[in-house]
Amino acid sequence: MQQQTVQQHPRLGKEILQGCNLTQLTTPQIQEFKQSLWEHGVIVVRNQHLTASQLKEFNNQTFGESNFKYQPKPLDPGIDPDLQSLGVAILGNPKENTQEIVGQFAWQWHHDKDFLPRTEGLDMNSLYVVMLYGVEIPAEGVDGQPHTTEFLDMVEAYNNLDPEHRRQLEQMSMYHLPPRTYQPAPDVPMKKHPIVSTHKVTGQRGLYLGSDTSIPVGMEDELNLAKQFWQKLFQTVLERTPVYAHVWQKGDLVVWDNSQVMHAGIPYDANKYKRIALRVAAVDNTQTFI
Ligand SMILES: [Fe+2]
Repeated sequence: MQQQTVQQHPRLGKEILQGCNLTQLTTPQIQEFKQSLWEHGVIVVRNQHLTASQLKEFNNQTFGESNFKYQPKPLDPGIDPDLQSLGVAILGNPKENTQEIVGQFAWQWHHDKDFLPRTEGLDMNSLYVVMLYGVEIPAEGVDGQPHTTEFLDMVEAYNNLDPEHRRQLEQMSMYHLPPRTYQPAPDVPMKKHPIVSTHKVTGQRGLYLGSDTSIPVGMEDELNLAKQFWQKLFQTVLERTPVYAHVWQKGDLVVWDNSQVMHAGIPYDANKYKRIALRVAAVDNTQTFI
């Protein structure tokens, strides 16, 4: 599969609020943060020093209190308490003497949160936002290159398709399943989304593909065909649309609008390196989008 990867992208990955402390933003700065996010799809704030609680507080301050239900979990004594807070996930291999990696299923291309039931009252453009904060960054990926997270601009991807292909996809919807699930099952939520969607804030059209377990409506009984359809479409996207790779630095907060981009993590060697990233997510509840 051909893939062009760039570390500078005309739209994705804009660095904002240089020199700011995210725990002390003013209301206009929060507005700038959100406006930049909707405009650019992926934004970066560098040089932060956040605890998990401060990250969650910033998330709530910006997007409103989360409606997600979290099961209370006891503190893990093997992990620094500053890295733990209800609703904040710890990705990577945060414990001493363990090479087990949390979150490695994210090494394939996907939109997040396909494992949750669809949010009531919201279409696919649920304004689902993810914040990922880099606490410890591996020196390199398994490819020997700097540690990155990769993003695809799905608005650009849609615009790069042939007009006839766009028209065909505009008539189609897919059931989205969790990336790790390969078969539909009674206890797995299936959410139906149009393949071509219109963004709630920007009004731009883009592709919304879930992951390679998504099933076009009408192909529920032909899963091999469904997978072929997805992979062929995604291959076309990759051939025509450059991948933006964010090169991580310690203290980076990378924030993406899940309805505009797909992403994939890059494997690293957990025997050699430690990675700790804090992840918090929100559906914008503030109703003040810009
Ligand atoms: Fe993800």
